[in-house]
Amino acid sequence: MTRTLTIATVNGPAVLDEADRRRTFAVISHPDAGKSTLTESLALYSSVIKDAGVTHGKSSRHGTVSDWMGMEQERGISVSSAALQLSHRGAVLNVVDTPGHADFSEDSYRVLAAVDFAVMLIDAAKGFEPQTLKLLAVCRRRGLPIITVINKWDRPGLEALDLIDGIEEQTGMAAVPLTWPTGKAGDFHGLLDLRRHEAVSLEAVRGGALPCRERTTALSELPDGPGLQWAAALEEADLVQATNGGFDRAAFHGAKQTPVLFTAAAKNFGVRQLLDVLADLGPGPSARRTTDGGHQPVDAGFSGFVFKVQSGQDAAHRDHIAFLRVCSGVFERGMILTNARLGRPFATKYAHRVIGRSREVLDLAWPGDIVGLVNAASLRVGDSLSAEGEVRFPEIPHFAPELFSVARAVDPGRYKQFRRGITGLEHEGVVQVLRSDRRGDQAPVLAAVGALQFEVAQERMAKEFHAPATFEPLPYTLAMRLGAASTRPPETFLGGEIMHRSDGENLVLFTDRWKLEHFRRDNPGLELTTIGS
Ligand code: G4P
Repeated sequence: MTRTLTIATVNGPAVLDEADRRRTFAVISHPDAGKSTLTESLALYSSVIKDAGVTHGKSSRHGTVSDWMGMEQERGISVSSAALQLSHRGAVLNVVDTPGHADFSEDSYRVLAAVDFAVMLIDAAKGFEPQTLKLLAVCRRRGLPIITVINKWDRPGLEALDLIDGIEEQTGMAAVPLTWPTGKAGDFHGLLDLRRHEAVSLEAVRGGALPCRERTTALSELPDGPGLQWAAALEEADLVQATNGGFDRAAFHGAKQTPVLFTAAAKNFGVRQLLDVLADLGPGPSARRTTDGGHQPVDAGFSGFVFKVQSGQDAAHRDHIAFLRVCSGVFERGMILTNARLGRPFATKYAHRVIGRSREVLDLAWPGDIVGLVNAASLRVGDSLSAEGEVRFPEIPHFAPELFSVARAVDPGRYKQFRRGITGLEHEGVVQVLRSDRRGDQAPVLAAVGALQFEVAQERMAKEFHAPATFEPLPYTLAMRLGAASTRPPETFLGGEIMHRSDGENLVLFTDRWKLEHFRRDNPGLELTTIGS
């Protein structure tokens, strides 16, 4: 794509064509289920539009994803989310990264606002694990379609039929297999490609460094007879199909059905079939709801929203990157957009495709694509940007925090820097910031869904804002939203307190569920609702 294209030449049908080719998704899983291995394997089978950051093997991976903070370097973890762009069979796949470390953060949730579907990766031996369930709950609330992938089938694991039952139970969707393995978990030598009516024998090449060798036979030509692995696999797959029905694209896109595939990503088994499913069946971008009750069609003028903001990635430049999901129209670098929250123009001279630490200039982007806007200090998570008129997409919901800490400046003489730092972190969505008259502005309460958010906040307070801070944990584990009440309850009570967030919400913090129930009983007139619903 060249820079000589102008908006006039690429608008209209070109936007619809390009949007139609996009598959924008996130892989959700528990750490160690094989997300990185699967992403690398997908890259192996497709053309990587930009391959920076894609490597093979965990050891070489260290340092290739965003290791921009000292903390990340030490621990070999990635805090930043970016998108990898692959092309396969005419489709453009935007794989939006969710941080994969054990410490959870709100970023993982926010990414789900920027994608059109999710690939849920399950370890065949472990089934559903806590982080998968948390992310799945967000997908369900958002009505996101889900493709389920059962990985590590080359290792002993659960029974395939039991896994299918578990998927239905947890997702509330009909699980419809598109591939089915022969043999038990741990004995993975072939699979049935149920879409193509083929049996595929699989053989690893160079320990998984290269695409696996596949030998394909039409199902109608398979030898018949008891005791044969193919026959047993066919019987199981038929059984599931007879119970759950066949694949139905509308039911999948409506989040009523979840297609299921089996893989061993480390050997690249089943990954080609998954890639075909992503390209052929994955939902593309569609009209997005706006706050005025309407929908922004994909071929309208350019619009998008910020789902992540990141600062301090490049120590030399102290920059600020906002990640924008394109919702409609074509993005052309240099466009002047309007930020609906501020009613002010935003110039997009510095637009990048960002993968980990690597960046390249991005001139054009289409609905479904992710754009990294550099030097975007005025942008916040949830901001809507548009080229024609004002378009406003719904705010990305806050998520229910489970961890709370009081922050205080180590050096009271640096209070101004402390306040600037806390406000900066709040605007970027690194942590939620809660205040109350009782605690005052000098001791705000920071709230998070994962401990890593506090570590990032603490490090940045010291290194970037030059205001080292202490973080003192509070015993609360639960927060509820307080509805507008006729009588205001006291700010503190046994086992809890009430705090204010700058978006206008009042939150009630509790040490445990029991205190919540107590509070409800003592204050029957107050409305308490769950956060993030
Ligand atoms: P994550 O991003 O979800 O955290 O998982 P990652 O891909 O890093 O995989 C976690 C471990 O599981 C890695 O082993 C990886 O090789 C292994 N793995 C991933 N997919 C499969 C699979 O299909 N089969 C088998 N048998 N193993 C798989 P590791 O020992 O931690 O690292 P490495 O030295 O093998 O790279």
